Amino acid sequence: MKIFTERTQIQNVIRQNKTRNLSIGFVPTMGALHDGHLFLVKEALKENQVVVVSIFVNPTQFDNKDDLKKYPRTLDNDVELLESVSKDILIYAPTVADIYNGQTVSEAFDFDGLEFEMEGRFRSGHFDGVGTVVKRLLEIVTPDNAYFGKKDYQQLMIIKKLVEKQQIPVNIVGCDIYREVNGLAMSSRNVRLKREYREAAPFIFKTLQTAKNKFGTKSANKVTEWVENEFAKHKFLKLEYFIIADAVTLKSVKRKNKNKKYRAFVAVYADDIRLIDNIALN
Ligand code: PAJ
Repeated sequence: MKIFTERTQIQNVIRQNKTRNLSIGFVPTMGALHDGHLFLVKEALKENQVVVVSIFVNPTQFDNKDDLKKYPRTLDNDVELLESVSKDILIYAPTVADIYNGQTVSEAFDFDGLEFEMEGRFRSGHFDGVGTVVKRLLEIVTPDNAYFGKKDYQQLMIIKKLVEKQQIPVNIVGCDIYREVNGLAMSSRNVRLKREYREAAPFIFKTLQTAKNKFGTKSANKVTEWVENEFAKHKFLKLEYFIIADAVTLKSVKRKNKNKKYRAFVAVYADDIRLIDNIALN
């Protein structure tokens, strides 16, 4: 297993592979890997001859310093998990200095308004931080294909906007949400859930599924009201937002249009742990 901590090292190896005309797939992560991440890695392995996985807890995308401090860092275990999938994966696990050169600040981006919806409303500066690090990582790794999960659907749309506007030559691939058997979307944060909250959490996806059914016959407002009510009654889960939005613009829906695609998005607090999920509605 090859682990690189300096960008010059990984760039050398990538250059060698490129001169041999091998296609490069890239999966950026913040580590604390789980089966959801591995699902992305397996997709990348199917479609590329060389796969790079980055493991980097990016400080500039955390609006909450405590969340950054508490973010699980499990590099040895991450390496073992990746090794169980393929021994040929190139791992790039840089230091903050290697990415930020002593200036740990975000660039300011214009994502045509995508950044002001949902997560952008509740996590100020978050998407500038994501944009900054993903842009740098794409410049370093120069992949043909880069893989992102629909678990963070807004992030995926913002990355597509980033590469379009900055004209970064890469194909962005969106992968389905990988779930536990009980429906809970896999997340690095799930391991921090205390027992009663872990048992309560599958309620989030169940509610999304019922919301999807209701959306077939009811208005977005009615479905939203129903979901808000369900969470208001719940003992352990606190709803931050539930929004039905256009799948492309991410703007919330006033009136349904048959020709448009919609998704429902939710953010929930289970104790002090923030969980997000979403579902395609049509
Ligand atoms: P992280 O939360 O580690 O996620 C890395 C990638 O895995 C993201 O594209 C995310 O959407 C995807 N992912 C996580 N859980 C998933 C699941 N259950 N099913 C499918 N995909 C899943 O997202 C980030 O890191 C960072 O913001 C990053 C893009 C690396 C920039 O720092």
